[in-house]
Amino acid sequence: MEQNLQNIIEILQNHSGLSDDEKAKLMAYLKEADKKITIVEFKLDRTEKVKRTTAILLEETIEELEQKRKAIEETNAALKKSLEELKAAQAQLIQSEKMASLGELTAGIAHEIQNPLNFVNNFSEVSYEMIDEMWEEIEKEDLEEAKALANDIKSNLEKILHHGKRADTIVKGMLQHSRSSAGVKEPTDINALADEYLRLAYHGLRAKDKSFNAELKTDFDNSIGIIHIIPQDIGRVILNLITNAFYVVDEKKNSGIENYEPTVSVSTKKEGNKIIITVKDNGNGIPQKVLDKIFQPFFTTKPTGQGTGLGLSLSYDIVKAHGGELKVETEQGKGSVFVIQIPIKFN
Ligand SMILES: Nc1ncnc2c1ncn2[C@@H]1O[C@H](COP(=O)(O)OP(=O)(O)OP(=O)(O)O)[C@@H](O)[C@H]1O
Ligand SMILES: [Mg+2]
Repeated sequence: MEQNLQNIIEILQNHSGLSDDEKAKLMAYLKEADKKITIVEFKLDRTEKVKRTTAILLEETIEELEQKRKAIEETNAALKKSLEELKAAQAQLIQSEKMASLGELTAGIAHEIQNPLNFVNNFSEVSYEMIDEMWEEIEKEDLEEAKALANDIKSNLEKILHHGKRADTIVKGMLQHSRSSAGVKEPTDINALADEYLRLAYHGLRAKDKSFNAELKTDFDNSIGIIHIIPQDIGRVILNLITNAFYVVDEKKNSGIENYEPTVSVSTKKEGNKIIITVKDNGNGIPQKVLDKIFQPFFTTKPTGQGTGLGLSLSYDIVKAHGGELKVETEQGKGSVFVIQIPIKFN
């Protein structure tokens, strides 16, 4: 019992004029009070202990949280670094894909440049001889004949200039195609662009594989006029689709199907405020399980080393960046058609 209470009890016992009954009652009250004090003391002690434990736990939790925060920070930094590395790798891949498709084009480009070059060489040679003839006429004082020759030479020079410019355009296109910087929108004759890439792809393949042959069909809508697109980007899309189409018709032909005529058709059409460009082949079509993945980067069914599997995924991104859509329709055993839709007003 608490010492003070003990003292009170002693005083009560010895000095008060209280009756025994009253003393007994007081004693009972005092004992009851003592019991309550003990309980309160016990509770206080317990609360104190709980408080201390809680403080320790809290400290531990704060420490743990701090460690977690640090770990998250480190993970974030690592993620940021990988993201940067991925972006760099992607840019590198896009550039290599451009270079690879330039490789595909090289033979076609060489073929295309050869024609104007032949004209330039032949007309220069002829004109060179004609100048000698002209001098002879001048010496003979046949001015009429000399003037006629001068006119012919002039028209030859015009032809030389025309074909020289044509070669110039081809080389410029080639440089544009390989440029790594983002292209800019330009007023473009989409029919001429599609036709150019169709020819380049065809001659490119023919130069590599003399046995390759396919019927080319074009159906261009002349009402389209000029549209604003990034020509080398849309050119690459068309090239990728045509290259895929040539690949599948060639594969089907080589599988030895009788009376099979490999055919690739390219068409353009204006529909409302959209331009539709289609590339169609009469290959074997695309099975569903391949169809689900064709636009994924690196998905290819070509033998190792033959395809990067980036052609369609890049094409998809380019068309999206033009505010358009790239879709495919396919029929088992009959062929596929890839449809590019781009809005005419693309900002
Ligand atoms: N016209 C098509 N007919 C049938 N299958 C096609 C056609 N075009 C694409 N595919 C399928 O889609 C896959 C992916 O095409 P994509 O152009 O992305 O890559 P790739 O042609 O395999 O490789 P790369 O374009 O880098 O040479 C091809 O491997 C082929 O299986
Ligand atoms: Mg491809």
